[in-house]
Amino acid sequence: MKQNIQIETEMELELELATFYRNFVAHYQKVALNFESISELENEVDRFSRYILNESNTLRFHDWQTTQMRPPSIVPALADITAKCVKLMEVLRAKRLILGEQTDTTYFQNIEHCIQEEFGQFEITSNDTVLLVGSGAYPMTPIQIAKETGAKVVGIDIDAEAIDYGRQVIEALAPNEPIELYQTTVDQLPQIKDVTHVIFSSTVPVKYDILAQLYALTGPNTVVAMRYGNDLKSIFNYPKRDTNPKQWVCVDEVIQPDQIFDIAVYQKADIARGS
Ligand SMILES: C[S@@+](CC[C@H](N)C(=O)[O-])C[C@H]1O[C@@H](n2cnc3c(N)ncnc32)[C@H](O)[C@@H]1O
Repeated sequence: MKQNIQIETEMELELELATFYRNFVAHYQKVALNFESISELENEVDRFSRYILNESNTLRFHDWQTTQMRPPSIVPALADITAKCVKLMEVLRAKRLILGEQTDTTYFQNIEHCIQEEFGQFEITSNDTVLLVGSGAYPMTPIQIAKETGAKVVGIDIDAEAIDYGRQVIEALAPNEPIELYQTTVDQLPQIKDVTHVIFSSTVPVKYDILAQLYALTGPNTVVAMRYGNDLKSIFNYPKRDTNPKQWVCVDEVIQPDQIFDIAVYQKADIARGS
């Protein structure tokens, strides 16, 4: 009897995740053809964010993983499609801003709130240079950091459209702040040696490969804030991974029960161990 209830609960969870996946694929295709239907996608993302932050869903997901000894097989596909959807939402948010309109969604409020807490003890000062990997079409993080700390911020993105809109958003919201955006990779960035703090957007799939690459490119005291989501949060974020312990060591974790992603703070191994 108990086992039947458990099987039903697990099937329910799989069905809910599969439904989110199907809805996101349909919304993405619709919005890519016609931006007018963006509000349906925004509502779905808000529903999805609330689902992730619901404690009983977190417990159900945890039980599923414990029993099956692996996450539900749909998780990587769900993380991929939601990353694409959020990217599209940022483009539209940028377009609306350029047209003088506003976008209010729980998703964006959530992200913007998280930015305050990124580095824990490794505070950013006006003498620092912050690199954001995956700056997006609506670069909220660079704008908030530059305004709040006076630090120089460099954002990079693989997507030319994201850089183009990102520059227009900065011109509109923070024209006098020291923010630069480039469509480039970390190994091609001339300022890389000046970088003191790095933030990874949670929806960059290869973020841990880029972190490994940064080891040889950055100075000894560089600190990294890696946004990630494990367990239920991994349906909307790429998860935390192990690093080469001779390179980067996780020195702090900012777990945010009310936010859609958490943050792992890394330092170079010899500095973290005080040698
Ligand atoms: C949703 S967005 C941005 C985050 C948000 N605007 C912020 O300020 O926190 C994620 C961005 O990461 C970019 N991205 C994905 N893979 C990347 C990579 N390998 N290198 C750089 N950017 C990447 C995407 O093109 C997308 O614009």
